[in-house]
Amino acid sequence: MSDNIIAARSSGEVLDYLLKRRSVSLKYLRDPGPDTQQINLILKAASRVPDHGKLFPWYFLVFQGKARVDIGNIIAKAYKDREPDAAPAKLILEAERFLRAPVVIAVISRIRKSRNPVWEQILSAGAVCQNLCLAANASGFGSNWITEWYAYNETVRQALGLETQDHIAGFIFIGTPAQQPEERIRPDLADITTFWTPDIDLKKGNDNEHGKQSWPETGFDFQKLL
Ligand SMILES: Cc1cc2nc3c(=O)[nH]c(=O)nc-3n(C[C@H](O)[C@H](O)[C@H](O)COP(=O)(O)O)c2cc1C
Repeated sequence: MSDNIIAARSSGEVLDYLLKRRSVSLKYLRDPGPDTQQINLILKAASRVPDHGKLFPWYFLVFQGKARVDIGNIIAKAYKDREPDAAPAKLILEAERFLRAPVVIAVISRIRKSRNPVWEQILSAGAVCQNLCLAANASGFGSNWITEWYAYNETVRQALGLETQDHIAGFIFIGTPAQQPEERIRPDLADITTFWTPDIDLKKGNDNEHGKQSWPETGFDFQKLL
């Protein structure tokens, strides 16, 4: 077995980290961010995820320095197209979205032509997003995986150079945490875990978040991906 490959290795440190990790609110992500060498290492770790068929159905867009201003201008313009009467202050806020962290990395889910289901290709992109967060944290940086409205906006998608089979799985904001995050509510495992036996009632968790009775708008047409 190669020393470079780990199938299992007892690590209290990793487990402790996984049991305590938290995202950092964008309000508290500051300079410095990872430098280019650190970004490359983070991306190397991020791209080491399960991926049915070795399709690598994802790619990265890295925003640092002025690129954050350029994408901000695209977002602000897309917002004005959508809301022509938007207040100038709101447009400034939109233009500054990517200035909330020193580095932002977009993980793009790209559906490859394959026998493997689209769903699985998308899941693999989700795994990349989380690996990216973990690798950024292990490099000493805070992170936050978000999408926000502009991830689904056609003007923004086109300006970035995305095609129909490309979808933004996440924007990962990375920087130095200015303060320690507070704990966030976590699911009670007893509500979502079934040690399965035939005919057992499954523990499926709570479908109605905050009492909402309708399905969320996905803004996402899976059919369009095929
Ligand atoms: C796909 C995806 C998209 C998200 N988009 C947003 C978003 O647009 N805005 C937001 O405030 N949080 C968003 N979140 C949630 C943040 O990542 C959140 O801060 C995080 O889940 C906090 O949990 P943690 O501390 O366990 O990481 C998103 C999460 C996921 C998985």
